[in-house]
Amino acid sequence: MSETILEIKQLTKYFPGIKALDGVHLTVRTGEVHALIGENGAGKSTLVKILTGVYTLTSGEVLLDGKPLVCRNALEAQACGIAAIHQEASMFPELSVTENIYMGHHIIHPKTKRVDWATMRKETQTLLDSLELEIDCNTLVKNLGVAQRHMVEIAKALSLNARIVIMDEPTSALSLREVEDLYKIVRKLKDDGKAIIFISHKFDEIFEICDYFTILRDGRYIGEGLVKESSVDAMVNMMVGRSLDQMYPKKEVKIGRPVLEVQQLAQTGYFQDVSFTLHAGEILGFFGLIGAGRSEVMRTLFGIDSRSHGTVLLDGKEIHIRKPSEAMGYGIAFVPEDRQSQGVILEMSIAKNITLPQIDALSRYGITHKKRELEVTETFGEKMEIRAAGWHVDADTLSGGNQQKVVLAKWIATNPRILILDEPTKGIDVATKAAVHQFVSEMAAEGMAVLLISSELPEVLGMSDRIIVMHEGALTAEFSRDEATSDSVIKAATGHTAGNGGEQ
Ligand SMILES: Nc1ncnc2c1ncn2[C@@H]1O[C@H](COP(=O)(O)OP(=O)(O)OP(=O)(O)O)[C@@H](O)[C@H]1O
Ligand SMILES: [Mg+2]
Repeated sequence: MSETILEIKQLTKYFPGIKALDGVHLTVRTGEVHALIGENGAGKSTLVKILTGVYTLTSGEVLLDGKPLVCRNALEAQACGIAAIHQEASMFPELSVTENIYMGHHIIHPKTKRVDWATMRKETQTLLDSLELEIDCNTLVKNLGVAQRHMVEIAKALSLNARIVIMDEPTSALSLREVEDLYKIVRKLKDDGKAIIFISHKFDEIFEICDYFTILRDGRYIGEGLVKESSVDAMVNMMVGRSLDQMYPKKEVKIGRPVLEVQQLAQTGYFQDVSFTLHAGEILGFFGLIGAGRSEVMRTLFGIDSRSHGTVLLDGKEIHIRKPSEAMGYGIAFVPEDRQSQGVILEMSIAKNITLPQIDALSRYGITHKKRELEVTETFGEKMEIRAAGWHVDADTLSGGNQQKVVLAKWIATNPRILILDEPTKGIDVATKAAVHQFVSEMAAEGMAVLLISSELPEVLGMSDRIIVMHEGALTAEFSRDEATSDSVIKAATGHTAGNGGEQ
């Protein structure tokens, strides 16, 4: 029998000028995967941080097993049996996997009374192996890929043997295969009678793995129910307060002249023989599993990494981009995938972040033209539906999804000729996702050329004029918009080259 383990009543949390949570209810039972759903800024992560002692509540009640929960920091939360995988990375890159997993709860050798590294390493390796992660416990976290780091965070939460496991957008950095692995882990936790709080913007996940849901909007409780008795439309309606227009509003565009021609581009160890042509007005999708080399191709084009071979032509003339500023000079903009470390400067205001690439155009003698700065910020901040207390608040007070939107706004505001988007809607809620798609589609219709990397199949299929698939550093297939189907694209991405149009 499942029983109530956690009960939250009338929870409020105020930040200066913001009611992040305002009278929230949540009841979580053992053996249940409970989806916490809401738009960017709805208050989901704030609730998690109250449960894990990062923030203190303003008012309300949190009951664990019917008794008031008091935890003032992550260690006390652990002691209460609550573990969380946070939205933002919380590991120490310079330390090993073992050191990260046992941070704060070292095993002490019973005889020597010293930290027992041998046992901790052994336990860590057992844990990693049981999750079928091919990771050595001595590896430094900085040497792991994004997906691997995320799996280690999950391993860490599991190592605490918690009764309540909270996952704040756990799949945003994972590829198809790792998502399957994660589902397996979640189902096992559930069978073991744990309670799981699962935060996600992806409805396919919610319907696949969650039993029950609670919906927040603007910090307020809106409703709850059994997932199997609800529908995507019903949930969206509760989240957004209205039903949504078309999700992938792709405009019919007449494809123009070639803008960018890439010939046999290679970077030893990452990708080889990458050739494609991008036309004005075209959205060229890149699909592949994480690690297929898509991001590396884009980083090379933008001059972050150097190429070992190949030619790049812009408007038919060969160009040599050695650093991002040169790429920007040619009218190329790049929204990177890892926005936490490469995109947004947390201790800077939204306005400063958005206008950063244009700082020279907006200032004279080192003094920024405040009015212009605000105009640019307002225009693009509103287009991207950024929700904040004001344009001059620091980016670190924004919710995860709103930080993502700042990075999008910042690059789109440069009015580029070629826009490279690496997972542009990762972590962004449904309503804004539709707005981003609409906007990109409009920009393309005006002649902008777009390279769109996405691991979300519906996004690639819905938005692209043409789709290129990569697998292990090589192009494996190309599909026109009409040819592409989920099956054929996934097949090509997993290394089966016999998709439609995969053979020439
Ligand atoms: N440290 C902080 N200082 C000030 N305001 C904050 C702080 N943390 C969060 N907020 C505000 O609280 C609100 C809720 O943010 P929260 O991060 O909980 O949203 P979320 O539901 O997790 O959204 P997302 O889907 O984007 O991750 C937002 O308006 C955010 O700007
Ligand atoms: Mg969040």
